[in-house]
Amino acid sequence: MCGIVGVVGTREATPLLFDALRRLEYRGYDSAGIATLVGGHIDRRRAQGKLDRLGSVLERRPLDGLTGIGHTRWATHGAPTEGNAHPHGTERVSVVHNGIIENHAELRAELEAAGQCFDTETDTETVAQLVDLNLKRGMSPREAAHACLSRLHGAYALAMIFAGHPELMIGARHGAPLAIGYGDDEMFLGSDSLALAPLTRRIAYLRDGDWAVLSRGGAEVFDAAGRQVPVEITTSALPGNAIGKDGYRHYMEKELREHPLVIGQTLQRMIDAATRRVVLPELPFDLARIPRITITACGSAFYAGLIGRWWLESEARIPVDADVASELRYREPPLAPGGLGLLISQSGETADTLAALHSLRAGGQHILSVLNVAESTMARESDMVLDTVAGPEICVASTKAFTAQLSVLACLAIATGRARGTISDAREEALVAALLDLPGRAAELFALGPAIQAAAAMVAEARDVLYLGRGAHVAVALEGALKLKEISYIHAEAYAAGEMKHGPIALIDRSVPIVASVPSGRLFEKTASNLQEARARGGRLVVFTDAAGAARMGRLAEHLIVLPDSHDFTAPILHSIAVQMLAYEVALLKGTDVDQPRNLAKSVTVE
Ligand code: M6R
Repeated sequence: MCGIVGVVGTREATPLLFDALRRLEYRGYDSAGIATLVGGHIDRRRAQGKLDRLGSVLERRPLDGLTGIGHTRWATHGAPTEGNAHPHGTERVSVVHNGIIENHAELRAELEAAGQCFDTETDTETVAQLVDLNLKRGMSPREAAHACLSRLHGAYALAMIFAGHPELMIGARHGAPLAIGYGDDEMFLGSDSLALAPLTRRIAYLRDGDWAVLSRGGAEVFDAAGRQVPVEITTSALPGNAIGKDGYRHYMEKELREHPLVIGQTLQRMIDAATRRVVLPELPFDLARIPRITITACGSAFYAGLIGRWWLESEARIPVDADVASELRYREPPLAPGGLGLLISQSGETADTLAALHSLRAGGQHILSVLNVAESTMARESDMVLDTVAGPEICVASTKAFTAQLSVLACLAIATGRARGTISDAREEALVAALLDLPGRAAELFALGPAIQAAAAMVAEARDVLYLGRGAHVAVALEGALKLKEISYIHAEAYAAGEMKHGPIALIDRSVPIVASVPSGRLFEKTASNLQEARARGGRLVVFTDAAGAARMGRLAEHLIVLPDSHDFTAPILHSIAVQMLAYEVALLKGTDVDQPRNLAKSVTVE
């Protein structure tokens, strides 16, 4: 789960590689490194930790060369040390890798028996050592790389450079994406087109199993059998400019502030302003005839899916399954022929979600994806994409992409209900009105800053926190607990409020705050009773509700945070923003690295 980049060109490679790594840091930031060809020899610089540390190393010891490769790492095999930082290699070859070489132990034993000496604990070094051995045995770089690829099991995107071949780079892809960039008298490789955006807009994506030989003048692409295959060059629409914090302390703060805009932009794509009806792009399947929907995603995107399930079931009366992607493909649920696989992902690159996409397709499902990155692997592999118009989300913790996903799913539920005749025109009108009201309501949330800060002071003292909700707000609780864990490192658990007395209530005392999402609505009384039970046992409550809820809540909560009024249907969206804001305020008090929390990566590209 790393970012890789390569350049064969006419300009100094290191600044280009470093800038591309900055754009790939969302894939991991445990260590980073660059190797270049200097006078025909391979030289490299590496550093443990974030890219800035590599920047300091490069300032002290600059790295020349017109051809080079770079890597930003999220550690899988081997600790996140400088020694395990990519590029890996020998005096003959240098390699960067994204993915996991599953047969690395077997290969390592074989290579050590053949006299190869390993320097690292990584799976990647087996690739470098295997190519090195092939080179020592007299193969050309092209032959050595091809012979190596045929031995690898697992997932990889690879880029390699070779001593004595200043204008050669080889890339390969199997189960992890790799893009080729076409410049003027220079060529590039990158994990995605975003990395290459400032360098070129002309991009070709390698197909699974293909590998490419790049020189300054172009690329030859081959399949696994070594047959040359055609490439399709597309024009990327991604902006090449860097994305700034616009004066905010963190990207997370900026992205939280973008909620109203992002919700508005996303809804604008899906709601006809004149008729005030949801209008989806033409779908390659009939929503009225879909027998069942299977929602799958990871992390926050999965929680968006849980709220989507609630909406689809209640408005469209269609059976919906929801499972985290890493489980779905191994559970192998029986799938109704002609059913719909509904995938949700900010990045469109999450390995588990992509693998689930493949198994849903193999199970005869139509594939509809809700994605934020239009030029992503999932976008290319779906039958249809519904775009979230959230713009680039830089903070590892997802915020605005989450509410944009919810906005799309709400519209999908309405459209499905209409197609299946389960909602009336009047109901659609009311739901659309509630959605269109959302950007304004979301903007009002920021006035709650002081109340949320006061609650954050209580939460920041805790070691454990319980999040509670009912109905769609169970997923709001899950989202709130995940955000808190991710950016403040406080243990948090989310429960359906009614489940509390079946176990978690044993945890409750004054030291375990309870954060509850309780809009005034059908489930208000039941949830309020659960909170009473917690209060009776000394629990200290932070309650998010609305004006009507606050009036009925009495003096139950130590921190009662009154959100703007909203329709039951859209309340989960507003409440999600509120719990994200709370997590941000707690993280500020804890002084953590909000945008790049420890051990995480924005895009999880290994299974
Ligand atoms: O890019 P994706 O939406 O597929 O990513 C899924 C999860 O990795 C992601 O939502 C993760 O849980 C976030 N860090 C949550 O804040």
